[in-house]
Amino acid sequence: MNDPTQRISELRSEAEAAIAEAPDTAALEELRVRYLGRKAELPNLLRGVAELPPEQRGIVGRTANEARKGLEALVGDRVAALEAAELDARLAADRVDVTLPGAPPQPVGRHHLLSSTRREIEDVFLGLGFSVMEGPEVDLVHYNFDALNHAETHPARNRSDTFYVADEAVLRTHTSPMQVRAMELYPPPLYIIVPGRVYRRDSDATHTPQFHQVEGLAVDEDVTLADLKGTLLAFARAVFGDERDVRLRPHFFPFTEPSVEVDVSCFNCTGGFMRDGSRCPLCKGEGWIEILGAGEVDPNVFEYVREHGYDPDRIQGFAFGMGIERIAFLKHGVPDLRMFFENDLRFLEQFG
Ligand code: PHE
Repeated sequence: MNDPTQRISELRSEAEAAIAEAPDTAALEELRVRYLGRKAELPNLLRGVAELPPEQRGIVGRTANEARKGLEALVGDRVAALEAAELDARLAADRVDVTLPGAPPQPVGRHHLLSSTRREIEDVFLGLGFSVMEGPEVDLVHYNFDALNHAETHPARNRSDTFYVADEAVLRTHTSPMQVRAMELYPPPLYIIVPGRVYRRDSDATHTPQFHQVEGLAVDEDVTLADLKGTLLAFARAVFGDERDVRLRPHFFPFTEPSVEVDVSCFNCTGGFMRDGSRCPLCKGEGWIEILGAGEVDPNVFEYVREHGYDPDRIQGFAFGMGIERIAFLKHGVPDLRMFFENDLRFLEQFG
């Protein structure tokens, strides 16, 4: 056998060159197997040292051993260097600039001004011990007019004022039909409010053919006009501010006796006048703004539900009805009622 140390240094330089060029850790692993693996030439030479002539064993053994250790160290260093480079590259690609502005918040929906106003009204009356009920938008003439004590000749019965869907059925013109319906369903004491849509043949800046009302009905023993006033004062203060006052003016509704219109003291001026002495544009110099109609339930209405426990000699009640559009329109200074139904986001997004 000619000089194995020659072959060992050839293998070592060949391996060193290949290791230096290896592009990644997988290539290095292949080279480690090729030059240092179980079947590779260098380890075989090392294993064959015992069969060499004695004077060669020392030098060949040492050279082969050094070559193996040197190559192992080289592979180890290259693996470490490549791994560090790969980590650096990953970190650079993953870098987050924490000084960038955050993603803008996604726009969230909001309630329509009429829905939020209805909820606000419901909250006030729930707090006063009332329950919330709803009723049909198409109702019988019986509930919308007859049982509410409307004379046969009452003008609201005209087809020019009211939408009839049949001779005996209308799109309800107010939420008041629920007074009788609720009393048919539940015996006294009864404390309810009824929000809902109502319909009238009317269309201009202050009237839309469809609008919303909240009915109120309280029936118990000794429910007086003073209870009505106290209840509506609490409502007016909750919605329009703690300094508000209310006043009752005589009025007429077929189904209440006495009947009143209820005003709230103007929240835009003092006594009808602005600070500069000009007339208040909201209350037109009155100092008061009408917010709803009300009254003590007429005994004639109770006659329709007498057999349901409503004996007008034993119980009394008050009722009121307000327009939700009107409350929202006054509170937020909406210039035209039709804006509630045009779905213009520039208007709707100002609320809620
Ligand atoms: N229903 C009446 C209207 O629409 C309002 C009202 C309700 C009046 C209850 C008195 C009592 O004008």
